Amino acid sequence: MRLTIDVPLAVDRESPVPLAVQVAGQLREAMRTGRLRAGERLPSTRGLAALLGVSRTVATDAYQQLYAEGWLDGRHGSGTYVADDALPYEKPAAQAAEARGAVHRAPAPPGVVDLRPGRPWVLGYDEAAWRRAWRSAGELALNAFPDPYGHPELRELLAEHLRRARAVPVGAGNVMVTRGTGNGLDLIAATLLGPGSRAGVEEPGWRAARRIFASRGAEVVPCPVDEQGVIVEALPDDLRVLYTTPAHQFPVGGRLPIPRREKLLAWARRTGAIVVEDDYDAEFRYDVAPLPALYGLDPGRVVLLGTLSKSLGPDVGLGWLVAPADLLDAVAERRMHLADRTPGPVQRAVATLLERGDLDRHLRRMRLEYARRRAAIVEVLGPYVRGDTAGLHVMVALPAGVVPGLVRRAGERGVLLDTTEAHHHGPPRVHGLVLGYGSASRADVRRGCAVIRELIPPEGA
Ligand SMILES: Cc1ncc(COP(=O)(O)O)c(C=O)c1O
Repeated sequence: MRLTIDVPLAVDRESPVPLAVQVAGQLREAMRTGRLRAGERLPSTRGLAALLGVSRTVATDAYQQLYAEGWLDGRHGSGTYVADDALPYEKPAAQAAEARGAVHRAPAPPGVVDLRPGRPWVLGYDEAAWRRAWRSAGELALNAFPDPYGHPELRELLAEHLRRARAVPVGAGNVMVTRGTGNGLDLIAATLLGPGSRAGVEEPGWRAARRIFASRGAEVVPCPVDEQGVIVEALPDDLRVLYTTPAHQFPVGGRLPIPRREKLLAWARRTGAIVVEDDYDAEFRYDVAPLPALYGLDPGRVVLLGTLSKSLGPDVGLGWLVAPADLLDAVAERRMHLADRTPGPVQRAVATLLERGDLDRHLRRMRLEYARRRAAIVEVLGPYVRGDTAGLHVMVALPAGVVPGLVRRAGERGVLLDTTEAHHHGPPRVHGLVLGYGSASRADVRRGCAVIRELIPPEGA
């Protein structure tokens, strides 16, 4: 059992700050500054408690918090490690460069089938429309006073897009132009959260949401989901913010049914929480009628986040945040203080794509292509597939013991896979693969699924 680490830790019993918060803070700082490195093993809770002369509960609470924030990785049963992709916010340049490989996902080499989720098909856009959009951006005069809400004409076009594509009854006055979902969520966190506040994230759920909330000082609270989405009865009453993906739960794929949407909003009204609705891939929907966005059901309690990262590509760096007017004003003020903005030329180029109907045409084309890839998956892996009504990924449900070996053997055969286990911050509850079909061609999707099918052990084996 490891009893020491090369980082001085101490607790101050006179301090009003709880011991677990002190310990977590010191470990976080050590990871943030690179004194504790990715992959390094930490003492057990018993070892840490002995080292510091505190109770084991203090050590457990400190580790739990760091797990929730994504700093630690529990290879269950075999110890506690600094996560491979723990974000080195303030690492010296050389170490930061070394760590970059861990946080930046490089494209797969030729011949390798990449079925990990998160990326759209970036080869299918209309090049002429794209060039036209950028010519119009080039004609834009430079602006010395960027508007924190975004260009008025783009806000209008986005409101119209939301009314049409998502049936959200919204006016431009409630729309802010962001650089994407992550940016929008960070602005909300910077405005509403801080030390002492609690922020819920679906479990399993989007890792970036956990990191963003934690980096703004909030305590991250895991909120379990089932195959339909977030379980409302399990939500605590003291959350300031809840991050959720009702249109297509990431990564399980559930679609939150209307009665549960109503219950969720009733919970938010009762507790005063703000619900952040991440609508990241809602433009892609197959064989099912759209369900109303949460924002449309209660515009007073919900912030809706949208992005072009799935429809066009993350490199465009454009999204939107829809919120009640008073909250939007508070976010705009905070944004000014953070010197944060969306570049004007990008806004102009996207406005041109919307004005000319180019984005709608692109969406229609991609919807067809993604529907075909998704059909290829269902054809090969049908009985195992869950959450295939929307978006660019499905879940493949498998027994827990099967997943690690299958992922390894698929990797040896040139198929890269992601697991639901990887998107938990506590002990994994949902087991299987998260199969992305955004960035692999239809032929590659078929090839990858055939390999997976071969590697699934026969039932009862
Ligand atoms: C759940 C979820 N939301 C949103 C996004 C997009 O974020 P952004 O707009 O910051 O690129 C992703 C991208 O992978 C995602 O997985």
